[in-house]
Amino acid sequence: MSAGTPQTPTAVLPKGFQYGYATAAWQIEGGSKEDGRGPCVWDDFASIPGAIHDGATGETAVDSYHLWRDDVKVLTELGATAYRFSISWSRVIPLGGRNDPINDMGLEYYSNLVDALLDAGIAPYVTLFHWDLPSALEKRYGGWSNSDEVTKDFDRLARVIFAHLGDRVKHWITLNEPFIILRNSSRGVKPNFDWKLDTWRKEMTMNKRIPRAMVLAHARAVKAYRDDFQVTQGGDIGICLVSSAIPTTLALASRNATDRWSENCDWFEPLGDDPLGPIACQARRDTYLGMYADPIYLGHFPQLCKDTAGGRLQDFSPDEWAIVQGSSDCFYLNTYSTHWLTGEPLTDHTAEMYGGYLSTQFDAAGKVIGKPGEPGHLKMVPWGFRKIIQYLQDKYLGPTGTPLIISENGFAPAGEHMKRLPDVLQDDQRIEYFQGYLGQMVEAVLKDGIDIKGYFAWSLLDNLEWAGGFRPTYGSVYVDRNDGCKRYIKQSGFYLREYFRSAVKRE
Ligand code: NOJ
Repeated sequence: MSAGTPQTPTAVLPKGFQYGYATAAWQIEGGSKEDGRGPCVWDDFASIPGAIHDGATGETAVDSYHLWRDDVKVLTELGATAYRFSISWSRVIPLGGRNDPINDMGLEYYSNLVDALLDAGIAPYVTLFHWDLPSALEKRYGGWSNSDEVTKDFDRLARVIFAHLGDRVKHWITLNEPFIILRNSSRGVKPNFDWKLDTWRKEMTMNKRIPRAMVLAHARAVKAYRDDFQVTQGGDIGICLVSSAIPTTLALASRNATDRWSENCDWFEPLGDDPLGPIACQARRDTYLGMYADPIYLGHFPQLCKDTAGGRLQDFSPDEWAIVQGSSDCFYLNTYSTHWLTGEPLTDHTAEMYGGYLSTQFDAAGKVIGKPGEPGHLKMVPWGFRKIIQYLQDKYLGPTGTPLIISENGFAPAGEHMKRLPDVLQDDQRIEYFQGYLGQMVEAVLKDGIDIKGYFAWSLLDNLEWAGGFRPTYGSVYVDRNDGCKRYIKQSGFYLREYFRSAVKRE
């Protein structure tokens, strides 16, 4: 560790607290045409000239399809106790559908990875779907816009994975960030790229079906697990909600647009004394988070979403509610930053998507609030982290006795993607971010008494940041793509290792 590395607290997190890193298949694997893997919607998107920054594609990504042993080695060096990765649906079922053939080589890849992790004493946390829908399902019936079809196909994928890996994997996450899938739209990600007002309006109307489809797909996979696997396999299952995810697709589609494009859920804070500020914040939370969390944890849709959607938000039937409510053993939260709302209404076609109010990252004097990272990406605002945890506690965790796991949290320092060895390894800003955010998490555990069971930093590797290409960089491990994708641990990786080594109780 470098001499300037900040001190870490001792024995403040409960014994067994998991610490590790998160990744997603399309962002790291590559091997997109190898060993029978079928194409996914992100491959299709990447094939549109200009869609992805610098023409990056998922063909090699950072080559984890071949270098997975190196990933496990690096995780070991980082002292990680857990690793969250996702399954590429089209690697396992190339055409995606419930009657389509299974690709044994795809299953073998994940099986080997799981074995290697367990041999290294690292617990696998497996996400079944992190945005890379098989292209065939998009073409066949419109992907997530076709609730009946997609829920059945997802059920099949889930069952195949539980059956093959469930003897060893004990922690499952069904979907990653349904709100972002919605925003990236039912049609792969294309409407965001070919963004035109009329296209958007049409998609928005249709998109009201998508949140419903995603909640149902999640709930059916959970039911499958609970009915047919959980008793013998003894694991838990949940869904990753909220925030995060940079709006790379949107940012790209609206290069000159205001900052309101570059936001997601995270924490929302009123700016100024407009009495509409708090209402605007709640509207944003309901739209981004409540739309999914309220049905799953509380058994109803937020009133605001019902009101804004009018008749387009079709309610669940009593049988569907029976599997939706209570369908998550754990609350997985992805969160990065904080955004401000003044109460100024949004008047254009985006109002419904964004909960009706404009947000900003500038104060009244026009200064950026929070410490900025890569332009267009998320700012460093540690206290907002504690606030969102508290909000979850009051509304969902406390009343239902559900534990929380931070499934993604991280920072992309401005311009880091331009740095090379050895400078790139000195990622002081990322250390500052982790120090601030972890400090707030510890307060949430110690002072607010919140049951937090684990923390996954985003991300293990500098990887393919969706439409942003290889920019910005979120990894605690640098990947030298000019030299066989060799991995090099940055200082923030050593910082986190020492932090958790000292912060987690051993007894
Ligand atoms: C959330 C997403 O789950 C992940 O895929 C993305 O790379 C990070 N946020 C950072 O933008």
